[in-house]
Amino acid sequence: MPRAQFSLIVPTLNEAGNLPALLARTTEALAGARVPYEVLIVDDGSTDGTAALAEQLQARYPHVRVLRRASSERGLSPSVVEGWAAAQGEWLGVMDADLQHPPELLPRLVEALQTDEADVVVASRYTATGERLRWNLVRRWISRGASNLAQTVLPPQACEVTDPMSGYFALRRRVIHDVRLQPRGYKILLEVLSRGRYRRVREVPYQFGRRLTGQSKLGAHVMWDYLQQLWRLACRPTGFGRFLRYCLIGASGVGVNLGVLWALREADVLGKLRAPAVAIECAILSNFLWNELWTFRDRAREARGWGQRAQRLASFNLICAAGAALHLSLVWALALRLGWPYMATNVLAIMVVTVWNYGLNTTWTWTQAAAAPARKTPA
Ligand code: GDD
Ligand code: MN
Repeated sequence: MPRAQFSLIVPTLNEAGNLPALLARTTEALAGARVPYEVLIVDDGSTDGTAALAEQLQARYPHVRVLRRASSERGLSPSVVEGWAAAQGEWLGVMDADLQHPPELLPRLVEALQTDEADVVVASRYTATGERLRWNLVRRWISRGASNLAQTVLPPQACEVTDPMSGYFALRRRVIHDVRLQPRGYKILLEVLSRGRYRRVREVPYQFGRRLTGQSKLGAHVMWDYLQQLWRLACRPTGFGRFLRYCLIGASGVGVNLGVLWALREADVLGKLRAPAVAIECAILSNFLWNELWTFRDRAREARGWGQRAQRLASFNLICAAGAALHLSLVWALALRLGWPYMATNVLAIMVVTVWNYGLNTTWTWTQAAAAPARKTPA
């Protein structure tokens, strides 16, 4: 048999009743796609004989492989990741076993990869024609709310995806090559879209059907798992999350500044001009420390020599000093010259300088080059 180009992962937990119809429809659909393929049933110790039945059915469907998971950590997402690791294909797909995902859609998913339209192709329940079937209002509302929340952690290329929680999708292997996915819970696509390396995403609408037989394994804990996953993704020090951290540290620096100033005044040391200068420097040092340990932890870790740290400290100090000069210039020009309100102008100056400092510090102090090698753009 030729080496598979497309590997479809089907995670199973007690799906024996669905297997015959699933394999019949899936193999027929994939035969129409005209690419060498394999179907990988990844079973998590089903107690209804799913794995054994799948192995029996291999006689009729030679493209089917069965993976019995031995790992103690059960779960849908870890099963998918394990399936991808064992798969032959350069194109990887995932589909549920209960036929809520119509296998007849597979050729279109494969086609989107084949014609190079997309790096990730998602079968979506929400696009114009993909109706949500027979869902009650509450489930629809929860599902839509969860999707909206998910948008906040996704990179710009994925913002158009209407169904980032879909369990039915396909991708090029290089999208996840060397990417550290944290497969917990159900939402493996969310991990892929947040951490993967891709440029183009396409969506194919479909109708989410009813389960053929058996029951859903989605319980109450799934919602909790999901929120934890979102939290983990939101806490990654990238993009807007990093900027938020930077702002928080900046705000803490104001506290440090005022505290030191107060202490110096109380002790009555240093003069009225030297005390604030020392307070400012203390705030800068404190900000540097926290940015090094938190905001830019990932980049600092990659260049942790003392010389490199000292260089970053000098660069940060310089940029902050330049920022202070910019702040004073703004106040002078806008408030003193043009007569803008004094306090409001100061607030504005703080905002401008924060963005300005952040821009310079991300490019010069904690450089990207010091972190992971720049992302390979897909050829
Ligand atoms: N290996 C393995 N291990 N498979 C599992 C496990 C597990 O712990 N839990 C569930 N599965 C399999 C099921 O056998 C089925 O093939 C598929 O994963 C989906 O499980 P369901 O229990 O049918 O999930 P669902 O229909 O409620 O959820 C579907 O829709 C969600 C969106 O609402 C899934 O596609 C989810 O991925 C999707 O997010
Ligand atoms: Mn299901």
